[in-house]
Amino acid sequence: MRFSELIGSFPGETTLTARPRPYINHSVEFKGVFNVKDRAEMLEAVGLNVFFFPSEMITGCDFLSDSGTTSMTNEQWAALHLGDEAYGSNRGYFLLMEQVRELFGEVFFNKPDARRPNAFIFHQGRAAEDALFSLLGKTGSGMIIPSNGHFDTTMANIEANQIQAINLFSPEIKRGNPDFRFKGNMDLERLEQMLEREGEKVPLVYLTVTNNTAAGQPVSLENINHTARIAHRFGKPLFLDACRFAENAWFIQKYESSYRDLSIRDIVREMFAPVDGFTISFKKDGLVNMGGGLFLRDNGLFIENYPEIPDALVNYQVTKEGHPTYGGLSGRDIMALYVGLKTVTRDDYLTYRIQQVQRFGERMAGLGLPVLTPVGGHAVYLDVNRFFEGTSMQAQDFGGIAFTAVLLAAYGHRACELGYFAFGKMDPQTGKDLFPEINFVRFAVPRLRYEQDDLESVAEAVKILHRHRDIIPAVNVTYGRNLPIRHFKARFEFRK
Ligand SMILES: Cc1ncc(COP(=O)(O)O)c(C=O)c1O
Repeated sequence: MRFSELIGSFPGETTLTARPRPYINHSVEFKGVFNVKDRAEMLEAVGLNVFFFPSEMITGCDFLSDSGTTSMTNEQWAALHLGDEAYGSNRGYFLLMEQVRELFGEVFFNKPDARRPNAFIFHQGRAAEDALFSLLGKTGSGMIIPSNGHFDTTMANIEANQIQAINLFSPEIKRGNPDFRFKGNMDLERLEQMLEREGEKVPLVYLTVTNNTAAGQPVSLENINHTARIAHRFGKPLFLDACRFAENAWFIQKYESSYRDLSIRDIVREMFAPVDGFTISFKKDGLVNMGGGLFLRDNGLFIENYPEIPDALVNYQVTKEGHPTYGGLSGRDIMALYVGLKTVTRDDYLTYRIQQVQRFGERMAGLGLPVLTPVGGHAVYLDVNRFFEGTSMQAQDFGGIAFTAVLLAAYGHRACELGYFAFGKMDPQTGKDLFPEINFVRFAVPRLRYEQDDLESVAEAVKILHRHRDIIPAVNVTYGRNLPIRHFKARFEFRK
């Protein structure tokens, strides 16, 4: 028997349940040595707000965010050395523009001779959002921007400009059908009704892919195309909040049968084909620690409706970020971003990345923990209300905040409350709490950073907390209950 035949008679590598990662550790960092007492004391000192807990004391996994927390590849570290720190038109800018053209399409790319630019680089996503919404806010009053789910800072940027931000979550997110794969979709029925009722107030329609606020769930291409058709029928531009465009494309390839045979890059092109613009934080699928952008379709509906905005954006950039060819980033950041955008659409990377998150969620679900399934692309979401079922924890006790504090102190893992506290508000008239529809704790998995054992250890710790959930105390808010974006600033104490 020839060697190749002999080898072929073994079960193939794809049949293995534990598969090797498609990358190796290029360099590693050892964690500090701290115990439960150190962590508990520190947490009390920072008012139980996990954002203020020193990351150097995190002995477990840091799941506070998947944003800007990626471990870069050796190619990106090498590219940093090729950074060109020229004030105007650095080397990386042209490489980045070529990558934008290749990935998202010719219409979003700045041609070298373009008088009216359509690609704007910013230092991060929210800077791009601020530019867009502050300029839009000046064009009128009483505006409303509907979305399938605004991210918290996006909503804050919109509202800071006296524009109302409305979430039209898919009804599937509440139904919780585990077989429905695209729970991040826009609720098309409500969008249509809204545009019919108050369309004159809507400057644009926004779609977040994947939908971070709706448990990181993906949006189908069918829904993107349908949203675009509705928006365009009413003369409204469609924008993507495209932070996790590659992860969303992976879900489309795997679960939307008409696109199964397309490559990730082809699907990305299809996703951006019907849109008039997009904002993006490159700190997610740019695979970098800093970067953002705003891209407007050349001759698209947005530029048609607001022809003065591209030039106003250049003024904004020059006064706030710097010359448009570096936009608040150093030349080396731009080089790392250019390489990151080339890497992020690799099949082996995306498949491992998303399946790692899925396995983590499935492990939690298998332990009987109430996580949202099927799991989205970047994070596992624990349903706080179901977690505390059977205990005396009430909405105003902010169980999600208490959970994150206990998990961090007891086991050294940091997660983030995105629920009644983060998205809730204090009614200024009555002083009562207004609670949002959803109440989650999010475990956002940084890219290229953790191994399977790390995630297993978190699942085990959460299971222990679940078993002892009746002794997790309620929290009092000692500072910031009435403040906007209060979860970044508030302080708490355990109720005695
Ligand atoms: C969907 C979404 N939009 C916008 C942002 C803001 O991006 P940045 O953190 O770069 O400002 C984030 C960040 O987490 C996000 O998840």
